Amino acid sequence: MRFFALFVAAFCSVGVLAQDSDTDAATATVATAATAASDASAPTASASNVSDFTQLALSNALGGLLTAQNHYGAPIPPWQHGCKPGWYYGKNPGSVLGWILPWLADELICELLDLLPFCLHCPKPKPPPPQSPWTQTFYNLTGATQAADYMTYGLVDTVADCQTMCLNVQGCTFVNSYHDVNGKGGSPLLTCALYSQCHDASDADNLGGQSQPDGSVDFITSSDGYCYHAQ
Ligand SMILES: *[C@@H]1O[C@H](CO)[C@@H](O)[C@H](O)[C@H]1NC(C)=O
Ligand SMILES: *[C@@H]1O[C@H](CO)[C@@H](O)[C@H](O)[C@H]1NC(C)=O
Repeated sequence: MRFFALFVAAFCSVGVLAQDSDTDAATATVATAATAASDASAPTASASNVSDFTQLALSNALGGLLTAQNHYGAPIPPWQHGCKPGWYYGKNPGSVLGWILPWLADELICELLDLLPFCLHCPKPKPPPPQSPWTQTFYNLTGATQAADYMTYGLVDTVADCQTMCLNVQGCTFVNSYHDVNGKGGSPLLTCALYSQCHDASDADNLGGQSQPDGSVDFITSSDGYCYHAQ
């Protein structure tokens, strides 16, 4: 049951965050949620019969994590040391290496998030409009956008998934997707950073350069920017 393995693990990572910020209450909530999640992973648990209590505990933990105030789980922007993506939206959670992230296509996580008014919700892809609402502002750069209107970042499979995420986050009008090459082997996933204002190549000045645990230094490829125009 990969869903639940990821899910439980997601709360363990919340626990670490909460301890970092030294808030006992948050840690306690998260500990409860983590336990509840473990219980929920008993043989045939499904979204429909997880107890109300468990749902509430998990909702509270997710709700505290995936809020606008917390940059939807990625409070440190991608150009600063110690940053970590806040979420994964795509088809292959097994391809997320090195982090444990809420998977925004997991049925249970999506149902729980839907219960929370101020929380990130899982995107519900719609058929694309006849004319693309996106204008590409830069293409294939080796720098990523670095700007004060940063909203959140996560991991995606495709540029289209990154755009879908933006449409799902209130106030988002710009996506910057790129490969953050950090470590040997290279993940196929794209980093997807969301902004509230549009940016051109002149702000794409995060060239990586952060030391990685394996001693390598990260760099950026295939950085594309797209600005949304409401139709
Ligand atoms: C949960 O639901 C599944 C089917 O959706 C069922 O097989 C299982 O027995 C239920 N478990 C509990 C604890 O109710
Ligand atoms: C993107 O840029 C790299 C060099 O940074 C180049 O090798 C590659 O061919 C370019 N790709 C496309 C599709 O233009």
